[in-house]
Amino acid sequence: MLVLGVESSCDETAAAVVAEGTRVLSNVVASQVATHRGYGGVVPELASRAHLQNIGWVVRRALADAAVSQHEIDGLAVTQGPGLIGSLLVGLSFSKAMAFALGKPLVPVNHIEGHIYSAFLEHPGIEYPLLALVVSGGHTSLIHAESEGRYQSIARTRDDAAGEALDKLAKFLGLGYPGGPVIDRLARQGNDRAFAFSIPKITDGSLDFSFSGFKTAALRRIQEAGIRPRRGGRVSRKILDLVASYQRAIVETLVAQTARAAVRLQPRSVLLVGGVACNTLLRRRFKEEFERGEDCRVFCPSPQFTTDNAAMIAAAGTPRLRAGAGFDPQLNAYASLPLC
Ligand code: KG4
Ligand code: ZN
Repeated sequence: MLVLGVESSCDETAAAVVAEGTRVLSNVVASQVATHRGYGGVVPELASRAHLQNIGWVVRRALADAAVSQHEIDGLAVTQGPGLIGSLLVGLSFSKAMAFALGKPLVPVNHIEGHIYSAFLEHPGIEYPLLALVVSGGHTSLIHAESEGRYQSIARTRDDAAGEALDKLAKFLGLGYPGGPVIDRLARQGNDRAFAFSIPKITDGSLDFSFSGFKTAALRRIQEAGIRPRRGGRVSRKILDLVASYQRAIVETLVAQTARAAVRLQPRSVLLVGGVACNTLLRRRFKEEFERGEDCRVFCPSPQFTTDNAAMIAAAGTPRLRAGAGFDPQLNAYASLPLC
């Protein structure tokens, strides 16, 4: 089963060819980081236009890299949501036109389910039940899956996503965009106990996340300690300490809520996926907390599959294409699209 995946939910135009749901024959990603860098965040209108410019050559290159002709694929899988609506529509419309012209089936994929499947690309034998932390610039969710496709939402963020919280502080401190990787690197040189951040408590008994309080607290620490944003040159000791403390608070929140869910649900596998899953400290802490040999294993995809890509979309769509999915000319994209 050869599947062409297409992803355009945010600021990456991506296409990939995946065989049997796990063998990645090609994985092409056109990043728009340079387009949005000057604004310190994704500008939706610019993102849609860049997707339009990129989608044609990205799909052609994915087929060429895989040495597969468009007639040889068995079906297409495309991200339907959640995401930026203008961006989603580019990938979805392109895929619909292509599937229609070729007479091939097309399945819509929820972006969050795609991130969950990213872990299966390198580890096809992941056992259920699984607990997945999907953590990126747009999402922070805990999803439980009893078996393939049977999802239950355990927690979500009430405000900012974890990656967004990292990106915003980095922007404020003049550290560059996207902020997550920069903070990951700088935090290694800082004292992560220098600034105190109290972990927010959600009192209604849910496991939901909240990160906006950290941002407010960080701004207060910046004022109190007289920290100035970097203007070129070296990063001050205070900034290094602040980002290390801030990163630790976010990581420990993610670990603590996942641990509560794991106690309740006793998963066989814990998945750490989405762009923030690249974070060195978060990966290490997940291994320490949840790796229990035969009883529970931790899976973090390699960086090319944790950030947005289309191989994960092809993988997520494969079971439904295998089960005989068709083509729906009414297929639409949705900015909000719950997984379950
Ligand atoms: O999954 P992704 O590519 O796009 C979204 O769906 O948002 O994730 C991008 C996010 C950004 O917020 C970026 O700062 C964060 O992932 N990120 C990281 C690291 N690498 C990327 N955050 C922390 N540490 C990293 N090493
Ligand atoms: Zn994503």
